[in-house]
Amino acid sequence: MKNMVVGIPREIKAEETRVAITPSGVAALVAHGHTVLVEQGAGAGSSIPDDHYRAAGARLLPSAAPLWEQAQLILKVKEPLPAEYPFLRPGLILFTYLHLAAEETLTRVLLEKQVTALGYETIQLDDGSLPLLAPMSEVAGRLAIQVGAWCLQAQNGGRGVLLSGASGVKPAYVVILGAGIAGTNACQVAVGMGARVSILDVNPARLRYTHDILGGHVTTVMSNRANIEEEVLAADLVISSVLVPGARTPKLLSRALFRAMKPGAAFVDVSIDQGGSAETSRPTVHHDPIYCEEGVVHYCVTNMPAVVPHTSTFALTNVTLSYALELADNGIDALRTNAALRRGLNTMLGQVTHPGVAAAFGLPCAEVQQVLGTMR
Ligand SMILES: NC(=O)c1ccc[n+]([C@@H]2O[C@H](COP(=O)([O-])OP(=O)(O)OC[C@H]3O[C@@H](n4cnc5c(N)ncnc54)[C@H](O)[C@@H]3O)[C@@H](O)[C@H]2O)c1
Repeated sequence: MKNMVVGIPREIKAEETRVAITPSGVAALVAHGHTVLVEQGAGAGSSIPDDHYRAAGARLLPSAAPLWEQAQLILKVKEPLPAEYPFLRPGLILFTYLHLAAEETLTRVLLEKQVTALGYETIQLDDGSLPLLAPMSEVAGRLAIQVGAWCLQAQNGGRGVLLSGASGVKPAYVVILGAGIAGTNACQVAVGMGARVSILDVNPARLRYTHDILGGHVTTVMSNRANIEEEVLAADLVISSVLVPGARTPKLLSRALFRAMKPGAAFVDVSIDQGGSAETSRPTVHHDPIYCEEGVVHYCVTNMPAVVPHTSTFALTNVTLSYALELADNGIDALRTNAALRRGLNTMLGQVTHPGVAAAFGLPCAEVQQVLGTMR
């Protein structure tokens, strides 16, 4: 086991209020013999005070520069921004959400600076699942019902329907497209709030799973054009959390369908970060999250978990910590033994090691084992 210096800088991206570690994560790293540096105020956006990090054994540093200089492993939430590029250097291990296929400049900086960069979103288990994306879908799905209920309020342009209804008054009808991680989480919250809920998917196994966990509290419906239309026309609130991996979200909802919906109905397009599920969807931001099209209130924020940073930080670090510990304990040797981490490696020693990133910029893709071999 190595003694690694692990650094957690404060996030500087606009509207990013999460932090890459919790105090219990610091305690775990310290118990493994590592030194943990946390930038002062890094947890403030997630309501985690500096004192909690200090009590867990972290050293608090007043600014980013000395932290990046001393750290051998940097844990972050978002990709480095240009102000952070000067801190990158050969041999530094960077573990964060990178989304490099959409970031050519950063990709070239990481190559030039010979950073060992691992993307949360590319850590992949043997069954193809992406364990570090799942918790944010869970948060976004649950939040979708909360914001959907708010959109239905009259002062937001909604039809003034309370999800739970009242004694002697019917509850709202909530229709969820996509019974994946976000969809089933939305479903559980909607049922919990007392709404009438139906959920549609093209995958019978996902419908069976939803039926098994929620039984008679939800109606499961096969997703096809006719069923989508029938359900959406009856809905007070529609949530879309459809995903076709590796592709743009299919446009399942036409403008004409929105025109025929109940006036003042609400639509939360969780899938907006992959292009959105409706002809009428366009990305919005937290400080101006809704707009009205064809009489329907639309909420299309692309980074929904950012409004609940405390919960999102804990949900994210619950799943990143075991990988961070492995990187801290074994350095790049962790890549030799852990296939999920190896799949998550994007750049190393000036070479791209992820096929998606290489394809995005027409760069050669090196085999991770081969790159590691040159380091023996
Ligand atoms: N806006 C945000 O802040 C935010 C946050 C997290 C995730 N997301 C997005 O939410 C979406 C869902 O993520 P997830 O993790 O739940 O994905 P997932 O893969 O777990 O679920 C997607 C589901 O969509 C279903 N589907 C595919 N085509 C369909 C169709 N025609 N009709 C009905 N269902 C269909 C799939 O069978 C699958 O069950 C993704 O686009 C993800 O990027 C957005």
